[in-house]
Amino acid sequence: MVLRSERFDDVYFSAEDGLAETRHVFLAGNDLPGAWVGKECFVIAETGFGTGLNFLAAWKLFEETAERGQELHFMSVEKFPLTLEDVRSALSHWAEIEPYADALMRAYRDAGGGDVRAKITDTVSLEVQIGDANEVLPAWERPVDAWFLDGFKPASNPDMWTGTVFAAVHRLTGTGGTFATFTAAGFVRRGLRDAGFEVAKVPGFGTKRDMLRGVKP
Ligand SMILES: C[S@@+](CC[C@H](N)C(=O)[O-])C[C@H]1O[C@@H](n2cnc3c(N)ncnc32)[C@H](O)[C@@H]1O
Repeated sequence: MVLRSERFDDVYFSAEDGLAETRHVFLAGNDLPGAWVGKECFVIAETGFGTGLNFLAAWKLFEETAERGQELHFMSVEKFPLTLEDVRSALSHWAEIEPYADALMRAYRDAGGGDVRAKITDTVSLEVQIGDANEVLPAWERPVDAWFLDGFKPASNPDMWTGTVFAAVHRLTGTGGTFATFTAAGFVRRGLRDAGFEVAKVPGFGTKRDMLRGVKP
């Protein structure tokens, strides 16, 4: 059973295979691992931390491909943090990420339901700010290399796909920085384009025909 939100009438990730979806949409969609080659510290930012699956998939890929001494910083925002039990149960589906999930669980538990600020390994750090993306992102200052735009579907979670969010995402992105998202909704495509991104519609995961990826020229 895939974890579902009653509030947003949507699933946290694909019922087909959430990890495969993450790899297709967010990792490949942002040209990872290629994009972090040669970068001393690569910064990923995400809208909607949820279960942390996207973080774990990015961290695992980083471990497998990064050069010695490279660092990964992953920042996310979450308005409705899940319980530790929900996160544990949702992530237990994938044996290959179990050791990574255990480390996340410890950081999540230590945060006690508040913001997470954790050095997960010597080279990987995680920051999850609890709050509304429309209030949290405009206050961020750290330049971002790649975005995982992962709210629930825009029709049921319009707050996550606003001009305020798109403007903050664009402002924080360095030249050549990228975003990827599972949705291809017209107003999201136009919003990100109007914010200043070059946006492309590309094949989505599984039964989803299209998704969006983009670059800040
Ligand atoms: C599709 S889920 C994210 C899945 C997640 N990336 C993962 O790896 O499990 C969307 C997330 O966005 C959060 N969310 C919805 N509206 C929000 C808002 N306005 N600000 C911040 N987070 C929000 C939801 O609570 C949910 O956790």
